[in-house]
Amino acid sequence: MLKKILGLLMAATMIFALAACGQTPAQNSDNSASSDSVVSSKTSQTQSSEAKTSASIGEAQTESTDNKTLVAYFSWSGNTEEMASYIAEQTGGDLLEIEPKAAYPADYNETGDIAKVERDENARPEIANLPASIDAYDTILVGYPIWWHTAPMIIGTFLESYDLSGKEVYPFTQSASMDTEQFNQSIEFVREVSEGATVHNGLFARPSDTGAIDDYLEEVLGNNK
Ligand SMILES: Cc1cc2nc3c(=O)[nH]c(=O)nc-3n(C[C@H](O)[C@H](O)[C@H](O)COP(=O)(O)O)c2cc1C
Repeated sequence: MLKKILGLLMAATMIFALAACGQTPAQNSDNSASSDSVVSSKTSQTQSSEAKTSASIGEAQTESTDNKTLVAYFSWSGNTEEMASYIAEQTGGDLLEIEPKAAYPADYNETGDIAKVERDENARPEIANLPASIDAYDTILVGYPIWWHTAPMIIGTFLESYDLSGKEVYPFTQSASMDTEQFNQSIEFVREVSEGATVHNGLFARPSDTGAIDDYLEEVLGNNK
């Protein structure tokens, strides 16, 4: 009889302990997989952009020491962002949106005027969410739209903020006209502001042209996802 009571008590204790955990080991591993994928997944776009950026960079530095690709981009109207998200997905890189401290106006012409002055003055507009360090990354894909025949000056701010010695930089861009001379001029600018880095041939493709993006990633990174 005593044995029976003890047996019942042990069974009750085990049921209680499992209920308190509320999860099986399989459920636990599912959770960690989904939190890892936040780093480069598009789902992070539903968070506020500030939270998204710090989460991306923070997780990369603390959790995934073997993921050393950063996909940093500036986008005013979303086209470069589309390209950057796709590239981050394909490479498993961490996504960072470069956000200006003084946001550009929603009006195209007003933004055009500001951007023209910035280009003429070789200005370096401040960045609101500049990571303290990008040391964890040795491959940096940097994306931007063509502005006034070259890269937006904020790309200069970003790249000049770090010691890029030994890093591999891969520019990617697109524009309204898809004029290759303007593209080449932008690559020249990226080279000027990336002291110490190797700046590779860039990618100039429309965001919807995923075939061209895939080919580029395979050619320069050996990426064949
Ligand atoms: C300030 C500004 C300057 C631009 N200058 C050029 C240019 O010189 N050549 C060009 O082909 N397109 C130019 N464009 C068009 C953009 O390159 C094009 O709309 C691009 O797709 C925008 O990318 P985004 O959506 O990532 O901002 C300019 C757009 C803006 C807002």
